[in-house]
Amino acid sequence: MMERIRVLVFLGIFAAMSGSAAAQTAADRAREEKIAAKCVSCHAKESPGIVNDWKASQHARARVGCYDCHKAKKTDVDAQAHKDILISVVVSPKDCSRCHPKEEREFSESHHAKATTFLRSETPKGRIMDNVLGYKVEGAAAARTGCEKCHGSKVEIGENGTLTAATWPNTGIGRINPDGSKGACTACHTRHRFSVAEARKPETCGSCHLGPDHPQIEIYLESKHGVIYTQEKDNWNWEIAGGHWDVQYYRAPTCATCHMSGIGDAEVTHNVSSRLSWKLAPPRSEARENWKENREAMQKVCLNCHSVNWVKGFYQQGDDAIKLYNEKFFDPMNAEMEKLYEEGLLTKEQFDEEIEFKFFEYWHHEGRRARMGVFMMGPDYAQWHGFYELGRGKLELLGMIRELREKKANGHGSTSEEMRKK
Ligand code: HEC
Ligand code: HEC
Ligand code: HEC
Ligand code: HEC
Ligand code: HEC
Ligand code: HEC
Ligand code: HEC
Ligand code: HEC
Repeated sequence: MMERIRVLVFLGIFAAMSGSAAAQTAADRAREEKIAAKCVSCHAKESPGIVNDWKASQHARARVGCYDCHKAKKTDVDAQAHKDILISVVVSPKDCSRCHPKEEREFSESHHAKATTFLRSETPKGRIMDNVLGYKVEGAAAARTGCEKCHGSKVEIGENGTLTAATWPNTGIGRINPDGSKGACTACHTRHRFSVAEARKPETCGSCHLGPDHPQIEIYLESKHGVIYTQEKDNWNWEIAGGHWDVQYYRAPTCATCHMSGIGDAEVTHNVSSRLSWKLAPPRSEARENWKENREAMQKVCLNCHSVNWVKGFYQQGDDAIKLYNEKFFDPMNAEMEKLYEEGLLTKEQFDEEIEFKFFEYWHHEGRRARMGVFMMGPDYAQWHGFYELGRGKLELLGMIRELREKKANGHGSTSEEMRKK
């Protein structure tokens, strides 16, 4: 069964390629395979790790060689002469799309492909954007080795088609490639194995989805799903072809199962945004444009292992908790902060006053932890790392606001200067 699916995909790709304007003749193919053999024989000595990985991949089995991915035309901005052959180091989603158009299209439609939109841009929504934090409060070298490692940045070309040290290496999920395409498929399928099994494991997503502001991997490992994964993963079959990995091969979902995999009636997708109904990351959570369809798509996944009532109850509890966060914790404190700016009690400058950090952590760390914990079955995050901290944080913010007002009433002009001295 498995073999048949793979062969069909393989034949399909060549049918698609031979149908295109760039149809290869047998002679062209023979020439390219000869070049690829040269890459392999030299790199087997120069960088044996790369050749080993490639040899163990589905690509090697399907005769997709070094040159198929790295070849370049003179007109490519990132073409470089390499042992008399033109190559490019970057292999972008656009390059992969020659053979994997569906995956590339879906990925491009996802928020993953948009992960660099915040970079160095001015802040459209006022103080709440954290790019100021990365580039101004911290500094460019920090942002480069922090924000840009997960989010990506623009890959710049230096001399002779080489990539600049300031922007390379770069495997950020939304990096802007020299050919204009966005993203890095290697964020989940590391080179040169390009393994589907690797992409299905939660640790892969957890390299970016962790920490105080979006602890999805921690939440997952706390959830019953994660507990079952931890105990049973060695007995599960991870190698099944994309779109066919369903409950006969595992008994609890991973990140990929819920957000991407084909399982039962849910179709496989590379658009991780397409099963989400809420926006859980922004300061205030709003419903997404296609929230109904998206929610249905996610629920199709759950229904492989749960009953309708279980799933309905789960979403009802989740929606109630988001409403509570918005209305009890975010809205009133956001209004208080707005007033402070209007009354000139805070400067327009971002992150130059203690209370701005406090408010940032309130929604960006504590508020997100509560919302993510609720929706991914992590009660400790919903509670003790989430709503409990919000309850305490609200009180502390109110105390700080009172202090600012008292100072003004006592005739101490602009507060920001004083706060800094204090
Ligand atoms: C005769 C040996 C030889 C051949 C043939 C060869 N390479 Fe290389 N390649 C090297 C060496 C050595 C390096 C490392 C150079 C360096 O450290 O920058 C390298 C580096 C590279 C890099 C990284 C360059 C960078 O700027 O980071 C890529 C990509 C690459 N080779 C791909 C290929 C491909 C594809 C082919 C076949 C078309 C090929 N190589 C053929 C020896 C070879
Ligand atoms: C399926 C496509 C694909 C194939 C096949 C492939 N590569 Fe790559 N290669 C990549 C990607 C992707 C990267 C990472 C660059 C990036 O992020 O765009 C890369 C990076 C490299 C690098 C730079 C690695 C580094 O750490 O500096 C070298 C060298 C290289 N490839 C050589 C080879 C050789 C030799 C072969 C054949 C044995 C080969 N590649 C086959 C896609 C491919
Ligand atoms: C020249 C065509 C070609 C190019 C270019 C290409 N691939 Fe593939 N890819 C294939 C074929 C053929 C298979 C095998 C299909 C199968 O076995 O189902 C495959 C399989 C895969 C798989 C499944 C591996 C597994 O473990 O089952 C992944 C993931 C993948 N490719 C990712 C990529 C990425 C990422 C790129 C770009 C960096 C890329 N491919 C570029 C042809 C290509
Ligand atoms: C460890 C990886 C990682 C680092 C480092 C990182 N981020 Fe993120 N960032 C993420 C992830 C993952 C999300 C998605 C959170 C979610 O949806 O729950 C995200 C979300 C965001 C968002 C919200 C996007 C939206 O659509 O709401 C912004 C803005 C952002 N990050 C900016 C930054 C800035 C600026 C830095 C550096 C100061 C940074 N990030 C550092 C991984 C990272
Ligand atoms: C290289 C880092 C990285 C890896 C690996 C990664 N992500 Fe993300 N992810 C991000 C960033 C950054 C964002 C936020 C993008 C934005 O909106 O700016 C994000 C956003 C998301 C979102 C929210 C999308 C939306 O529309 O708001 C989901 C869901 C998601 N990722 C799931 C996954 C899953 C599942 C995996 C593993 C199969 C994964 N991610 C692997 C960095 C990563
Ligand atoms: C956020 C993580 C993530 C990123 C980024 C990602 N993939 Fe995948 N990919 C997966 C997962 C998970 C699967 C397995 C889906 C399933 O279980 O059905 C997969 C499956 C595949 C397959 C199917 C293999 C088969 O057997 O049919 C191909 C091909 C593929 N990816 C190519 C790509 C390409 C090309 C890109 C870049 C445009 C990319 N992927 C980016 C996570 C990712
Ligand atoms: C049991 C299914 C399930 C598993 C497993 C799961 N998630 Fe989720 N995830 C959800 C649901 C449900 C939501 C909220 C959906 C909504 O908005 O309707 C969500 C929300 C998210 C978001 C928030 C997007 C936003 O709005 O900002 C991110 C990011 C995310 N998940 C990443 C991950 C990562 C990474 C893992 C693994 C470490 C993971 N998920 C495991 C079901 C799951
Ligand atoms: C591959 C099967 C599978 C999928 C898919 C799946 N679950 Fe589960 N889930 C389980 C198993 C098994 C348990 C453990 C049940 C028990 O406690 O006996 C579980 C437990 C739970 C729990 C109980 C957590 C606790 O702390 O006791 C909730 C809530 C839940 N799942 C919701 C969901 C939702 C919502 C989805 C879809 C977004 C989903 N599940 C998808 C298999 C699955």
